[in-house]
Amino acid sequence: MVLICCCCLHVANTSDACNCQSVFRCISRKPTLTPAGMPSEFPLRCATGNLKQTCPENYPTKHNPTTNPDRPSNLTSTCPSYFQWIHDDLRHWKETGITQDMIERARKTAHFRLVIVNGKAYVEKYRQSIQTRDMFTLWGILQLLRLYPGRLPDLELMFDCDDRPVIPSKHFRGPNAAPPPLFRYCSDWQSLDIVFPDWSFWGWAETNIRPWKNLLKEIKEGNSRTKWKDRTPYAYWRGNPWVSPIRQDLLKCNVSEQNDWNTRLYLQDWVKQSKEGYRESNLQDQCTHRYKIYIEGWAWSVSEKYILACDSVTLYVRPRYHDFFIRGMVPLQHYWPIRDNSKCTSLKFAVEWGNNHTKEAQAIGEAASNFIHEDMKIDYVYDYIFHLLNEYAKLLRFKPKIPPGADELCPETMACPTNGTHRKFMEESMVLSPSDAIPCTLPPHDPSVLGSLRDRKDKSTKQVESWENEYWEKLSKKQ
Ligand SMILES: *[C@@H]1O[C@H](CO)[C@@H](O)[C@H](O)[C@H]1NC(C)=O
Ligand SMILES: *[C@@H]1O[C@H](CO)[C@@H](O)[C@H](O)[C@H]1NC(C)=O
Ligand SMILES: *[C@@H]1O[C@H](CO)[C@@H](O)[C@H](O)[C@H]1NC(C)=O
Ligand SMILES: *[C@@H]1O[C@H](CO)[C@@H](O)[C@H](O)[C@H]1NC(C)=O
Repeated sequence: MVLICCCCLHVANTSDACNCQSVFRCISRKPTLTPAGMPSEFPLRCATGNLKQTCPENYPTKHNPTTNPDRPSNLTSTCPSYFQWIHDDLRHWKETGITQDMIERARKTAHFRLVIVNGKAYVEKYRQSIQTRDMFTLWGILQLLRLYPGRLPDLELMFDCDDRPVIPSKHFRGPNAAPPPLFRYCSDWQSLDIVFPDWSFWGWAETNIRPWKNLLKEIKEGNSRTKWKDRTPYAYWRGNPWVSPIRQDLLKCNVSEQNDWNTRLYLQDWVKQSKEGYRESNLQDQCTHRYKIYIEGWAWSVSEKYILACDSVTLYVRPRYHDFFIRGMVPLQHYWPIRDNSKCTSLKFAVEWGNNHTKEAQAIGEAASNFIHEDMKIDYVYDYIFHLLNEYAKLLRFKPKIPPGADELCPETMACPTNGTHRKFMEESMVLSPSDAIPCTLPPHDPSVLGSLRDRKDKSTKQVESWENEYWEKLSKKQ
């Protein structure tokens, strides 16, 4: 038996050997052995003293899952259905493939180029991203390489860490169209940008939002504290309205002396919060209302997954942008659609409907929560990235080479020089040993499935809008 300490990442024989803070637990378990008989856990190995930090030579580049008798590798499962959109995002290159020239044309707005050769990652940085988005995105990719050593094929890609998509589909029509493939966190129906999970799955240091895996556990505990029926029967939102006009517009729906649109809206002041230790911004303490509003910011908002995880009914203001998972969620099943052009009346109706139909409302909240806690758990986020990169790599029409100016990237060169929250979140989200399971099975491309999903979404949104119309017409007749 060895004791694995999640805070200090030492493999120690006794719990005394590592000084864990109370938030991190030590777990004891049998060490899994590689075929060579070496323990397969690989902790961070920082150089001490003035030694320059380099990447360790002996990272595992292979892992044979069958060596672990506890988890037979033949137990494969089908990926959640939202993985289907991987095919849709890559369909523009299905016929033509992806050439080096197309990738170069994506460089214009990219923050970095990532190359993976023989299981190692190389990065060429072009410009500074907002906060540490690029750093934590790359950290996530490195963890994927640790989770599935040797499974990713060689590849090369451009990544843009800004908010809004930049590859308009109307510029790339016709048989000779060769759109530049560019990865980013969201896209919309008019753009060809390829969506990729955002940095916050590995932590958002600037806002003290910890990595997804542990945060999900905390939200789950928060959920169990207040039953849906005992929650405040209003629609809650807390956020920064200054990032977009539609959010400022939402504030007009706050409760006032004249009107009660059944909402309770609050400003998030990140500067104040950071001074006060983020006491009011703990996500696990924000599941106290029966309804929670999701509204986009400058583009999609990172807050989406935290809101949907709450067991509350998400009141989802009609979005323009999509991230990688929302395309698998359906109005009336996982959330309640809110008009973007008449938010207040739409919100008032939604809350009243939910308070009249508590069983149905509660079921919507639970369905979203299950989706987030099960289909979106970190293992599936890794599997999504795995399949996205794997399918993308199949399209490459050239053999990726290590760029002359690029540095090898490994957790040591990334994490060892950092300190504070960045370091803490990196250690917390570090993959400590290769997976003994293989990635879930990607469902094949079936455009009819995606088409019927789109139809279902349209239908249920129209259904709710017609209920709203009826309700407000009746009210206006009474007056
Ligand atoms: C998986 O492998 C184990 C051990 O090799 C075997 O006993 C079991 O029947 C296999 N299961 C499936 C579903 O093939
Ligand atoms: C909305 O109204 C509530 C209750 O009056 C108040 O506490 C809150 O500060 C208001 N929010 C904004 C953004 O003005
Ligand atoms: C909720 O129930 C009340 C009382 O039955 C009714 O007057 C109101 O129209 C209902 N509202 C909605 C949105 O269902
Ligand atoms: C943390 O890192 C920053 C930037 O690298 C540095 O300026 C600062 O002195 C470091 N703080 C500590 C406590 O090591």
